[in-house]
Amino acid sequence: MTRHLALSALVHGSGGHIAGWRHPEAYAAGQLDFAFHAELARLLERGRFDAFFVADVVAIWGHQLDSLSRTGRAEHFEPLTLLSALSTVTSHIGLVGTATTTYHEPYHIARKFASLDHLSHGRAGWNIVTSVVPLEAANFGRAEHLDHTLRYRRADEFVDVVRQLWDSFSDKAVVRDVAGARYYDPDQLRPPEHHGEHFRVRGPLNISRPPQGHPVLFQAGSSETGQDFAARHGEVLFTAQPDLAAAQAFSTGIKARVTAAGRDPGQVRVWPLLSPLVAGTEAAARRKVAELDDLLHDDVARRLVQDNIGDVDLTGYPVDGPLPEIPESNRSKSRRDLLLGMARRDDLTIRQLARRFSGGSIVAGTPEQLADRMQEWFTSGAADGFTVSFPYFPGPAIDFVQQVVPILRRRGLVPDGYHGTTLRENLGLARPEVSR
Ligand SMILES: Cc1cc2nc3c(=O)[nH]c(=O)nc-3n(C[C@H](O)[C@H](O)[C@H](O)COP(=O)(O)O)c2cc1C
Repeated sequence: MTRHLALSALVHGSGGHIAGWRHPEAYAAGQLDFAFHAELARLLERGRFDAFFVADVVAIWGHQLDSLSRTGRAEHFEPLTLLSALSTVTSHIGLVGTATTTYHEPYHIARKFASLDHLSHGRAGWNIVTSVVPLEAANFGRAEHLDHTLRYRRADEFVDVVRQLWDSFSDKAVVRDVAGARYYDPDQLRPPEHHGEHFRVRGPLNISRPPQGHPVLFQAGSSETGQDFAARHGEVLFTAQPDLAAAQAFSTGIKARVTAAGRDPGQVRVWPLLSPLVAGTEAAARRKVAELDDLLHDDVARRLVQDNIGDVDLTGYPVDGPLPEIPESNRSKSRRDLLLGMARRDDLTIRQLARRFSGGSIVAGTPEQLADRMQEWFTSGAADGFTVSFPYFPGPAIDFVQQVVPILRRRGLVPDGYHGTTLRENLGLARPEVSR
């Protein structure tokens, strides 16, 4: 199999652009509409997307209820429930969902992803996160979010236990010998008997080994600790990179960490985020982005800047006026300096600065321009694939599948069909052996 450019879609029903759900052509009720998700998954499958990815936090998606109430982010499906339902209406696309190691137990997660892998005949993927939103703590009896280093220490042990649980039964364990009255061979059982710093888990898991051995492990750590964790465990790595040079540096750096962790970098894929908007001309595509940005409500614009810049209350400041002085805080100093620098240098108002975050840096252009950019990132080692976040649904997803994918196919970057049965096979990732 030759290496292909992988495509995954990050699906949030209200769209990747924070005001996307308000676009006149957007389907504003998509968030909890299963028929909408089913149709979208089948569209993406026709476009030979490798994966349908559902992100998650175990809280509402933001803490300022007033500005949140002006976005489509306040409600979303629990990922595994949605992906399980999608497994029944699709047959090839990978089904990837986020689950946090900070607010779950390994047994639950091992069981749920094993179930999804069986339901989908080997198409499950787990995006391992340690949670970023402090609000999540309040839903689980904790006054504060667990410290960053401790979160990742717990995550290391968590993933180790989940893997052992998936290996509870060897691949040959279930024999279903009706005549001899043996459903499974007890000699083929490998319960973890784990006693660690955070978890004590005897096992075995109450479901046989997943079709993929282990569902594919996705990760998106970006701090030093997070990247080391990703290098130890991740098989597909999500990342947000602003330009080609940064993406190349990230990919080279993380693959070096994978090697240092004693793993084969050939078994790791890096999929940067891409938020595309295509039109017949570049100018028309840019107009579409401006139309979306015009839908940004004033409160949401203020909030976007606040969330990105640190501890400051912009309520009461005119959204078409300049940023006030922002005091230093214990949030990220480098990010505050970067954004303040950008606002001062380009003489940006609060609204103009907000527009720079609203769509996750939309790439606007003709289908050829999008394909050129993706090809360049792929061939220069900056990306093995892309995590595509459509600004709203369904128009931009339909345009991408109908106009960009055929170009990628013609150029031999995306194959015509799925050559494997499982997500692992389609991505060229080896099936793990039972570890014990
Ligand atoms: C494409 C992408 C998807 C992500 N999905 C989630 C998610 O669903 N839930 C979550 O809590 N964090 C998500 N994250 C955040 C990462 O898991 C990670 O916490 C973040 O990049 C910060 O890195 P750090 O944990 O190393 O500090 C995502 C990041 C990226 C780039």
